[in-house]
Amino acid sequence: MRFSFHHDNLVALKTDLLALYCAEDKLGEGTVFQALDRALEGLLTRLIAEEQFKGKKAQSLQIHTHGRIGPARILLLGGGPRREMQPHDLRGFAARAAKAGAAASAKQVAAVLPYTEGAVQERAAQFMAEGARLGRYRFDKYLTGDKKTPDTVEEFQIGMTSDNVESGRLEAIQRGVARGERVGAAVARARDLVNEPAAVMTPTALSEMAKQVAKEHHLEVKVLGRKECEKLGMGMYLAVAQGSEEEPRFLQLSYFPKTKVPGRKKIALVGKGVTFDSGGLSLKPSASMEDMKIDMAGAATVISAIGALAELGSPHEVHAFAACTENMPSGKAYRLGDVLTSMNGKTVEINNTDAEGRLTLGDAITYALREVKPDELFDFATLTGACMVALGPHTAGVMGSDLSLVERWLGAARLAGEEMWHLPLPEKLKEQLKSEVADMKNTGDRWGGALTAGLFLREFVGETPWVHVDLAGPASADKESGHVTKGGTGFAVATIVEYLVPRE
Ligand code: BES
Ligand code: MN
Ligand code: ZN
Repeated sequence: MRFSFHHDNLVALKTDLLALYCAEDKLGEGTVFQALDRALEGLLTRLIAEEQFKGKKAQSLQIHTHGRIGPARILLLGGGPRREMQPHDLRGFAARAAKAGAAASAKQVAAVLPYTEGAVQERAAQFMAEGARLGRYRFDKYLTGDKKTPDTVEEFQIGMTSDNVESGRLEAIQRGVARGERVGAAVARARDLVNEPAAVMTPTALSEMAKQVAKEHHLEVKVLGRKECEKLGMGMYLAVAQGSEEEPRFLQLSYFPKTKVPGRKKIALVGKGVTFDSGGLSLKPSASMEDMKIDMAGAATVISAIGALAELGSPHEVHAFAACTENMPSGKAYRLGDVLTSMNGKTVEINNTDAEGRLTLGDAITYALREVKPDELFDFATLTGACMVALGPHTAGVMGSDLSLVERWLGAARLAGEEMWHLPLPEKLKEQLKSEVADMKNTGDRWGGALTAGLFLREFVGETPWVHVDLAGPASADKESGHVTKGGTGFAVATIVEYLVPRE
């Protein structure tokens, strides 16, 4: 999809479809709406009354213009009350416009950028590009015949009113679009990795994908096998891996910025890379296992995000890590009651083999700390069902040892339009992890399951400022909505970019 910009007469713009975003309480007020309505001799005003189009969220109205003006179709998309509209809603707007265009077999789709104020324009344009790209995302490689619908939309035109342009803001808008295209591509890549069945996206396949990302974006890549991880003493990670026929693969991707700027930080991004989570001997019931190819979403996020960081020229040195493995039951699988020795020397009694993520992450965190001594460490993991119970399916739980870092991270999430919420790490809950035979157990009891998982990870972090993002809910979606498509979502890629790539 190509993006282009139009600021002369939108009434004359030759396009297959022109979409307008309409606030509920400002219906009919925009200059573009009024110009189109005038050219159509009041048709739009009459139709919105007849069809009871009020501009409510999810409401839409499409008309054919039959050659009377430039755009062949006008699409009005409701945005809800003006005061509730946020720049990141533009992802949904652009996604809806692109989808309507595809449904009409349109080659060109135009959407009017609703913001005219400077500061938000770059972001607004970024969200439009992300939305147009991601709303049309399909994982259709396994579909055959007419189940596969071709994407007809070749050009996404961003329409602006003269106020946008007169103030010389085209550059900011173009910058926003360029950034949105890159974020969109990285999110789409993360979705692809997650959506691929576990039989295909094995730890080895994931490491090959990481190598491909490294090649594309000129990153350094290191892949460790079982033997090397044994030498490093990754007892927790390898215990999870021992039940599977698939070889474990520990990945590291590294990005070094070309120029040294003051304030440059060293960042470690650790992603959970369980390519299939059956639960191991603490086997999951079938319904809970059905989706467990998504358990490498954290790895998919960090692998894809570091590519975007390199492309956008982040000033920070960034390293991505993922301890990839399956969690399978077998005669070789790790057992309940086993005592594991982690890479940092702490011992862990296993009371549930389905709490495997924290084991793989614990060793990955220890490795990351020793290998790069980061200034800040972030981990991303589909870690607990309890986090979804607490926050619902669309919001990630954020925990951390450094409150100011947590705040800065949440600020980036807000700007990127990704829902995340701070959860505590209550000291008192550490009791739940007490063991008689080892330094700790790997699971606590039912209450506060997301928090005991966070407390478990904290044991491996030490003094490094750290943020833990439990994305068990938002990593995948069970239905399509705006720019979010069913299946893997690529969640957190946009926030990582927002956090690590400053704007001009
Ligand atoms: N991968 C799961 C968590 C998960 C659940 C992710 C649902 C996405 C959707 C994780 O490994 C797991 O099984 N967690 C257990 C922890 C429990 C055994 C303490 C859980 O949440 O039930
Ligand atoms: Mn599990
Ligand atoms: Zn898991």
